[in-house]
Amino acid sequence: MGGEQRSGCIACMGVTTEQIEELDFSSASEEDRRGLYEVVAAWVVEDSPGKKRPSYEACIARWELHDDLGFEPPRFVVAREAGKIIGYGEVRISEAEANAHLATANVVVLPAHRRRGIGTALLHAMLSLVNGRTVIEAWSVFGDSPGEQFAAARGFRVVSTMTRQRLALSDPPEVGELPAGYELVTWKGAAPEEFVEAYVEALNGIRDAPRGETTLDLTRNTVESIRREEADAVPVRWIVLLLHEGQAAGVTVVELDPAVSTVAEQLHTVVLPAHRGRGFGRLIKAYMLHNLKGVETIYTRTSSENEHMLRVNHSLGYEDTFIYMGVQAKTADLQA
Ligand SMILES: CC(C)(COP(=O)(O)OP(=O)(O)OC[C@H]1O[C@@H](n2cnc3c(N)ncnc32)[C@H](O)[C@@H]1OP(=O)(O)O)[C@@H](O)C(=O)NCCC(=O)NCCS
Repeated sequence: MGGEQRSGCIACMGVTTEQIEELDFSSASEEDRRGLYEVVAAWVVEDSPGKKRPSYEACIARWELHDDLGFEPPRFVVAREAGKIIGYGEVRISEAEANAHLATANVVVLPAHRRRGIGTALLHAMLSLVNGRTVIEAWSVFGDSPGEQFAAARGFRVVSTMTRQRLALSDPPEVGELPAGYELVTWKGAAPEEFVEAYVEALNGIRDAPRGETTLDLTRNTVESIRREEADAVPVRWIVLLLHEGQAAGVTVVELDPAVSTVAEQLHTVVLPAHRGRGFGRLIKAYMLHNLKGVETIYTRTSSENEHMLRVNHSLGYEDTFIYMGVQAKTADLQA
C-alpha cells in the first residue's frame, strides 16, 4: 500500500472486512472518539505495568492538544470493521524548524484483531500523514510486548531506552541553601518578558543530556518558538529558573495533566555546564515540588543511561515503574 492511499480495503492481506481511512479528530463523531478511546484503553490495560484504565477525558484531552515536546495534535488513520474502530495509527508533526524532519507515530490494534495485517496496513496508511517528514519515531514501545515485535518486523530500530518514574507527593523535600550569587525565579504559564531569554538559554542546555540516537532536537528554542508554543493549545506549565548573577544557570519544567488536576508530568531539567556538580539539579526539582499545589502524583521519564538524573529523582522519592523504548525508521524505508 503506498503513502498516497487514503482509504481502502485491506484486500492485499487477504482480509476484506476492514476498512482503513483517515479520521479528522476535530470533527469526529462522539462514537468515533469513543471508538479510539476503547482501543487505547484496551492497550493501556494490556501493556502498561499499572494496567489501570485511563479516563476518557484524559485521552481526549491529549489528542486535542500539542504534546509536551511541541508536536501538533495528532492526525489519525483508523481501521474499521462493520463501521466500528478496531485500530488506529496516529502521527504528530512539529512546526519547529529543529524537528522539521521528524514525525512521531503510534499504532494500536484491538487484541482480538491482531496478526491479520491491520497494524501493517495502518502503518502504511499513516505515511500519507507525515507531510514530508523523513524520519519516524515511536516512543511507546514496551519491552517484551507485541509492539516491540511489530516494530522490529516493520524495520524500526531501537534508538533509546527510557525509565518511567512516579512520585507520590506528600511532604515536599527540603530545598537546601542557595549559594551566594544564585537566585530562583518561578512562574506558571507564559514566561515573564524579563526572564524569557534566560529561560530559552537554559532549555537549550539539554543538548548534552544522554538521549540515545533519537533525532528529536530540543535544543533550538528561541524566544519566538517559546511564544508560539505558549500561544498553542498546551496544558498549564510551571517553571523554576535558576539564575546566577542574572544569567541562566538551570531550569526545570512541570506540566499539569490536562484532564486530571492532581497529576503532573515532570519534563525537562537542565543545569548549564558551568554550574554542574553542586547539587542544583536536585535543588531546583525539590523547589519545584513546593510549587505544585493540588498535585498528588508526578510522572517523569529519563533516559535509562542518565544515571545522574535517575539518582536525583530517586533522592526526591521517585520510584521506577517501567522501561520503554523509542524506535526509529526512515520514511523512505517504510514506503519501500
Ligand atoms: C503492535 C500492533 C499494532 C501490531 O498490530 P497487528 O495488526 O497485530 O500487526 P500485523 O498483523 O500487521 O503484524 C505484522 C508483523 O509484526 C510482527 N508481530 C506483530 N505482533 C507480533 C507478536 N505478538 N509476536 C511476534 N511478532 C509479532 C510479525 O512479524 C507480524 O507479521 P506476521 O503476523 O506475518 O508474522 C499490536 O500488537 C498492538 O496494538 N500492540 C499494542 C500497541 C503497541 O505496542 N504499539 C506500539 C507499536 S509502534
